[in-house]
Parts: sequence; C-alpha cells; structure tokens
Amino acid sequence: MSKIFAFSIRKDEEPYLKEWAAAHPEVEVDYTDKLLTPDTAALAKGADGVVVYQQLDYTPETLQALANLGITKMSLRNVGVDNIDMKAKELGFEITNVPVYSPNAIAEHAAIQAARVLRQAKQMDEKMAHGDLRWAPTIGREVRDQTVGVIGTGHIGRVFMQIMEGFGAKVIAYDVFKNPELEEKGYYVDSLDDLYKQSDVVSLHVPAMKDNYHMINEETIAKMKDDAVLVNVSRGPLVDTAAVAKALDDGKLFGFVMDTYEGEVGVFNEDWTGKEFPDPLLKDLIDRPNVLVTPHTAFYTTHAVRNMVVKAFDNNLAMVKGQEPDTPVEVG
Ligand code: COI
Repeated sequence: MSKIFAFSIRKDEEPYLKEWAAAHPEVEVDYTDKLLTPDTAALAKGADGVVVYQQLDYTPETLQALANLGITKMSLRNVGVDNIDMKAKELGFEITNVPVYSPNAIAEHAAIQAARVLRQAKQMDEKMAHGDLRWAPTIGREVRDQTVGVIGTGHIGRVFMQIMEGFGAKVIAYDVFKNPELEEKGYYVDSLDDLYKQSDVVSLHVPAMKDNYHMINEETIAKMKDDAVLVNVSRGPLVDTAAVAKALDDGKLFGFVMDTYEGEVGVFNEDWTGKEFPDPLLKDLIDRPNVLVTPHTAFYTTHAVRNMVVKAFDNNLAMVKGQEPDTPVEVG
C-alpha cells in the first residue's frame, strides 16, 4: 500500500483531505498541522511522498531530512516554488505544484478591492462608524470610467480583465508572452510605459522573478497617471512598498490594494492581537483610509482550497505510482 504524508494541514483543508483519502482507499494518508522542518520531517517516515504548503523556506537541511528517509516526491498545494532551495535538484527531488487552483478567487478579490478603493468605501465605512453619515467629500469613481491596465495575462490576469470589462471598464494589457486571442482583439499595448501612461488602475498579475524585483518603484510610479490606483495581489517583491507609501503621501496615487507584501513572511497569517506589531511600514499602510491591505487571502476560498488539496494529492499519487504528474515543476 502506498503512503502519502501531508504537512501543515489547516482545519479548513481537513475535509478535502479526508474526501480525497476516502476516494483513494488504496492509499494510506496521514497528516500533521506542523510545518515541514528538519525536526518534523521524521513524521513522514515510511511515506512514499509528501504533500506540503508553507511560506517557510524548504531549506537544504529540510530537504536533506526528507531525502534521508528516502522521500523525494514532494507536491506543493500552492503555485509559488520560490522558497525551495536548489539543493532539491541535487537530491533528485521530483516536485509538483498547483499552478491553477482558482484564478477567479484571486481575480475577484482584486476586482472587488479595486472597486472599493475607487468608491472610497473604507473612508465611508470609517465615517459611518463614527456617526458621520454625510456624503461629501467621499465621492466615488465608477469603474466604467477607468482604463484598467493589466500586467500579466495568464489565467488570473485574464479573469480579472473579464470582470473589469463586466463593470464596463476599458481594459488594456501588457505581457511578454502574448495570448493570441487577446492580441487579435487588440488588448496589448507595446510597452509597460504605455500601460502606465494610459491606466487609471494598474493591476499586477505576474510571478516574482529576479528581473521584475521592485518593478513598481519611484520611477515607474512617476510614469503613471495622477490619481492612479495600484493593485498587487500577485507577489510582494514586485512592489517597492516604501515608494508606494511616498506616492500616497504625495497624492500621486489615489489608492493601493495590497494582498501581497514584500515583508509578509512571518507577519501575515499570524495573530498580533495584544502583541507589538512587528512592521511599522505595514502598520502605516493598514491604517491609511485609501489603502486596502489583506494578508495574502485573495486565494483563500473554499473552491481554491479544495482544488489545492485535491490536485496536490493527485499529483503526488501519480509520482508515487511512477506516472507523469499533471503539473511537474523545475526548481533551480
Ligand atoms: C500561491 O499559491 O503561491 C499563493 O500565493 C497562495 C498561497 C498563500 C497559498
């Protein structure tokens, strides 16, 4: 009988894991809520493969600890593989991720938050909470009056485009890899500079890579329209957050939607109630009326979580059986 062991299973993932296990009686499934570290790796002893998700790095030591148990088949329940050390290759790891679990979860969140910033919804909520029920000066901007610039036209970017078009916005896009259908329909502008120049809303939908680190910075913000809204539900390192804070101070940007933050590891998905908040820049952004911060929860829907669990287990089982998994990834 094959055995698959899963690390850091949250309460909200448990039902889907149990559903998968019930549908696969030929596989022994075991799990823990603990993260995968050199110390906890031994929990997987006897397993043929592991299913994982964590923002904590998969360090050389962690990978070695698994390899020492003879486990080199590792399936991520998420997309990002940037926290897996290159040693994985040397140790002969076979790795899978779940590149598409619910583009709608993320695109919907981006669209909702962008619309809320345009309507000054947080400002109105705050006024209401203090008993101020006057309209002015909290006037909204309609989505249909905006040009929405979408950077990255993969699965998520494309759903975001459809939603924004549903609201009536004019949508333009930029991507180094052009989608033929979108190209034919004339969505693409020639350069990022063109996109910055024309867009009232700039939304990022690209993975983080070495060459796009801080692609949104003082210089690129200066190229944007006055009163633009910036949306980052992709990856924190794409944005120089201090530069955005400055642009908000200067009144250059109308608002900012931030679901991913360059300093989020160890801060997001933690409860800071009653404790000293560790990041003053993040605190400053959270407190601003025209900034909507969420702790990397754009993905966090029942639909997405189910797909992440089920697809990761499917991938792992395929590898355990010596078959080609649906979504293998290269690391390094
Ligand atoms: C990913 O899938 O890589 C994400 O960004 C979502 C993660 C927080 C589970």
